[in-house]
Amino acid sequence: MEQIKGKNILLVGATGSIGSETARMLATSGAQLFLTGRNEAKLVALALKLNLSADRFIAADISNKEDIARLKEAFFAAMPRIDVLIIASGIGIIKQVEQLEEDEFLQTIMANLYGPYLLVKSFLPAMKEQKKGLIINIPGVLGKVPMAGAAAYSASKYGLTGMMQSIREELKRTEIRITNLYLGGVDSAFWDHIDLRVQRDKMIVAEEAAKTIWFLCQQPSSAVISEMVLQPFNHQAI
Ligand SMILES: NC(=O)c1ccc[n+]([C@@H]2O[C@H](COP(=O)([O-])OP(=O)(O)OC[C@H]3O[C@@H](n4cnc5c(N)ncnc54)[C@H](OP(=O)(O)O)[C@@H]3O)[C@@H](O)[C@H]2O)c1
Repeated sequence: MEQIKGKNILLVGATGSIGSETARMLATSGAQLFLTGRNEAKLVALALKLNLSADRFIAADISNKEDIARLKEAFFAAMPRIDVLIIASGIGIIKQVEQLEEDEFLQTIMANLYGPYLLVKSFLPAMKEQKKGLIINIPGVLGKVPMAGAAAYSASKYGLTGMMQSIREELKRTEIRITNLYLGGVDSAFWDHIDLRVQRDKMIVAEEAAKTIWFLCQQPSSAVISEMVLQPFNHQAI
């Protein structure tokens, strides 16, 4: 198995529930972390908790090209290489299609699909130069199976699955791994603004979801975990 200690990791969505737990676990295991998310105050607070200096985080909207350019510059100013890119960012708008506004559809695609495209386009060349790397995505089970009210979300997440599987084909003869993590419902801030009756106490605990990402950062050196599915006991969609 690969070791986390000393790995240079870019964690996108570090301000989120799963992301912040992941940051904490990776830091404890000795990773060299660089954090990003949109909420600067949350990033500052997390960096303080993890004892990270100001050059180890930057606020960025991944659906914005200029922000991605700033992120790339700040990352390589602070870090010598990129071993792992974790894309733990995303938004969820759950509405029946007739109620779904055009800007909500586009916003979802921009955050969940276009953002990851921009990230891969920016950081894959460095991984190719190093001849090694790992990209972890979280399409979630709604990137594999449908749910009513998830037209925008599923479009973005099925798209993410397809995009990453296609990129994996391009990288077949390299030591760059792509892992898609299909999470079922996780009790997180993600659900705070979703108008849907869900049983959050029956969902996966955010810390356990983060532990899965922590585990995936240590995958076997002679193999790749191309997919992982983690679902709540009482709601197994796959
Ligand atoms: N929770 C679930 O049930 C569940 C299930 C399956 C898959 N997932 C996926 O898991 C990932 C993490 O979810 P979570 O539960 O931790 O949600 P969360 O607590 O709401 O966190 C979402 C994170 O995404 C960031 N983000 C959103 N849009 C962004 C953008 N345009 N640019 C940069 N950062 C952006 C947020 O940053 P700011 O807060 O700083 O704006 C935050 O850090 C998402 O991809 C989600 O789709 C979640």
